[in-house]
Amino acid sequence: MSENILILGLQWGDEGKGKIVDFLSEKINAVCRFQGGHNAGHTIKVNGKQTVLHLVPSGILHENINCLIGNGVVLALDALDKEINDLKAVGINFDNRFFISSNCPLILPTHISIDKARDKDESIGTTGRGIGPAYEDKVGRRSVKLDDLADEQKLREKLNTQVNYHNKLLKNIYKRDTHDVEKIFDAILNYKHLFDNYCVDSQSLVNNWITDSKSILFEGAQGSLLDIDHGTYPYVTSSNTTAGGVSTGLGIGPKYIDKIIGISKAYTTRVGEGPFLTELFDQDGEHLARKGNEFGATTGRPRRCGWLDLVSLKKTVFMNSVTDLCITKLDVLDELKEIKICVQYNNLGEPIYQTMKGWQSITEGISNYEMLPQNAKKYIEFIEKFIECKATTISTGPSRDQTIHR
Ligand code: GDP
Ligand code: IMO
Ligand code: MG
Repeated sequence: MSENILILGLQWGDEGKGKIVDFLSEKINAVCRFQGGHNAGHTIKVNGKQTVLHLVPSGILHENINCLIGNGVVLALDALDKEINDLKAVGINFDNRFFISSNCPLILPTHISIDKARDKDESIGTTGRGIGPAYEDKVGRRSVKLDDLADEQKLREKLNTQVNYHNKLLKNIYKRDTHDVEKIFDAILNYKHLFDNYCVDSQSLVNNWITDSKSILFEGAQGSLLDIDHGTYPYVTSSNTTAGGVSTGLGIGPKYIDKIIGISKAYTTRVGEGPFLTELFDQDGEHLARKGNEFGATTGRPRRCGWLDLVSLKKTVFMNSVTDLCITKLDVLDELKEIKICVQYNNLGEPIYQTMKGWQSITEGISNYEMLPQNAKKYIEFIEKFIECKATTISTGPSRDQTIHR
């Protein structure tokens, strides 16, 4: 029987979505991205080899799986072209299995300049990939879309309008260099092969897959706390990272989503600015950062680290109708003597912790739940009970096989 699964992050991103998507892809026919852009960095480790994906769906390493970039994604053609070429160079085939929605808004170099200029003053700590400005233009109904590559004259006209508008902002408001429209036009035409080879009516494609009872995996990017509507605004990204994003970002109704797997690290991390109640500034925080190798997969920035926040996790589980919890990076807690877990906030909004005994033994690589140390099981079962959701997948290392499936 076919089953469509949504995988999304329940925290501020980097929960290990790439690893879990790759792990579950084997039994799936297609993997689709539905929001975000190349601000995402999804890491997959197979047989000791690490791959970091930004736009290409994390099903690509399984050769028989179709991969689709849905209309909800903002597309940087240069970044995508480089990613495809790097993957092709290691023998990955894209023919007849990789598709991009004709409706994707394009990220232009001017979006990136505006993002960087603005972030200097506003300090959200964005990835500098032009994501916010590109989504603004989508909502402002002036985006250049992938589809526009079909007609060079129309493309030139739309680019003219958009880039001239951006140039006014850059020159007058941000006091930055402007961009040459013709140069951007030529650069886009340079990537015409992406349009020729992969551009599709993605809504019909997904519709056909569903009609043909194919199993589809929807790959979330970022995390629920970075959602434009439900996250820690304004310290968020500019897309809907929560479950509703699948419907708008691919053009399918919610009834076709059979299972919703929400991923949380066994602790918490955040890249960039914004509130983080359980953040640690002590030795434990340093330990999590070091053992968890907590550096951003896209920008290389160090990730802020802290304890798991169950109050927040319970909310994001509800917000997304999570049916299955996945806990990643359990092994990172292995050496800790005590582990704290936030179960409540006091009236000043500060976290109240429950302290649990650590297990101080190695869980790395364990793939059978029964083999976990008692205290690790207690930790997981405490989480499950609090948020009223079973952890059906537990990750004990970055590699595909370092995974427990219950
Ligand atoms: P994503 O953005 O959600 O796909 O996550 P990232 O790839 O940005 O960050 C997750 C990082 O943790 C990557 O370096 C993964 O290789 C690594 N990782 C994933 N699961 C585990 C795990 O269970 N244990 C450890 N130690 N590392 C993991
Ligand atoms: P994955 O898919 C972690 C953060 C940025 C910044 C904020 C806004 O790998 O989990 P943006 O460039 O999107 O306008 O930046 O969102 N951010 C992420 N943090 N993981 C990500 O993606 C992120 N994508 C964006 O650091 O705080
Ligand atoms: Mg990431």
